[in-house]
Amino acid sequence: MPLFNVYPLYDVTPVKAKGVYVYDENQTEYLDLYGGHAVISIGHGHPKYVEAITNQVAELGFYSNAIQNPLQVKLADKLEALSGCKNYELFLCNSGAEANENALKLASFKTGKSRIVAFKNGFHGRTSAAVAATDNKNIIAPINAQQKVTTLDLNDIENVKTELEKGDVCAVILEFIQGVGGLDQANSDFFEQVDLLCKENNTLLIADEVQSGYGRSGKFFAFQHYNVTPDIISIAKGMGNGFPIGGILIHPNIEAKFGMLGTTFGGNHLACAAGLSVLNVIEEQGLMDNVKEMSSYFIKIAKTIPKIKNIKGKGLMLGLEFDFEVGDLRKQLIYDYQIFTGGAMNKNLLRILPPLTVKKDHIDQFFEALVDILDKK
Ligand SMILES: Cc1ncc(COP(=O)(O)O)c(C=O)c1O
Repeated sequence: MPLFNVYPLYDVTPVKAKGVYVYDENQTEYLDLYGGHAVISIGHGHPKYVEAITNQVAELGFYSNAIQNPLQVKLADKLEALSGCKNYELFLCNSGAEANENALKLASFKTGKSRIVAFKNGFHGRTSAAVAATDNKNIIAPINAQQKVTTLDLNDIENVKTELEKGDVCAVILEFIQGVGGLDQANSDFFEQVDLLCKENNTLLIADEVQSGYGRSGKFFAFQHYNVTPDIISIAKGMGNGFPIGGILIHPNIEAKFGMLGTTFGGNHLACAAGLSVLNVIEEQGLMDNVKEMSSYFIKIAKTIPKIKNIKGKGLMLGLEFDFEVGDLRKQLIYDYQIFTGGAMNKNLLRILPPLTVKKDHIDQFFEALVDILDKK
């Protein structure tokens, strides 16, 4: 049976990975500055992670959400401690889209309203309401398009005010650093005003931290760079270091009711073991400090390269903007220099999303390759 052909693939076949490197079937080593799309947080094949998953699957890999699962409680407690998000409650699911889907549904349940305000170049996943709130017509099918979504410009606070005052908006969903769109960030005044307007208009603020969360921005959550209190925070990518797990942190002003949300696989024992070991490693290895240090190091070098026109993002969620499309540059980096990087909807932007364990010599290796390619251009 052929695979449904929806992914344009690079001709590389990784079979093994360790730390910041992946290896193909010929043992060729690739430097992973893409992190499997911002997923690899604590590094490939971290021994503590491997041990946690191995032990858990041997004990109990899965049982449904009909029984007590103390691992979910442990994960929630650890997440509260590391994120500093006190008093929020945790609902676990399996992916970023599912996290946002549940967040939007909860906002609609809570407010009794159904319109969503989202932003240009935002990306929130490929399911029903999440994809409708995503600014990409090519991935919104007619069945999704029936959702009521108003897409506004970042930083346009007047339009946010006008829309929320109409009284039918259940949620404002936003990325504090846009990922897929190309690392744009609104200014802090805008974020803080949006937060206030939501509170004044019985609209929930959903922080989509699927990509920017788990330390990637230099703080546990990207919204923590601002003075805002989201009602719901959605998480996924870095949470399981590759094990599929997602979730939402829910403010105590939203009351749970039996049956309101649910999932078969979400929060299973194996996923929780993976998620817990990720948080333990982030803490034990001081990875958030490493993010800050490596980010400054990366930006310092990037600033010395005149062909880089703009440096975007925060922490290890970074973008280098050029005055040309980077498709060929990415191919050269992979095939000639064995370095994975990311692209974005902004075709001139090279995205850098390494494991949070990346070190200076990896960054040096990247810039040597980049300068070599740019010099030959
Ligand atoms: C900000 C953001 N939200 C949601 C998603 C969707 O996550 P998933 O692909 O796990 O459904 C993504 C994926 O790239 C994302 O970057």
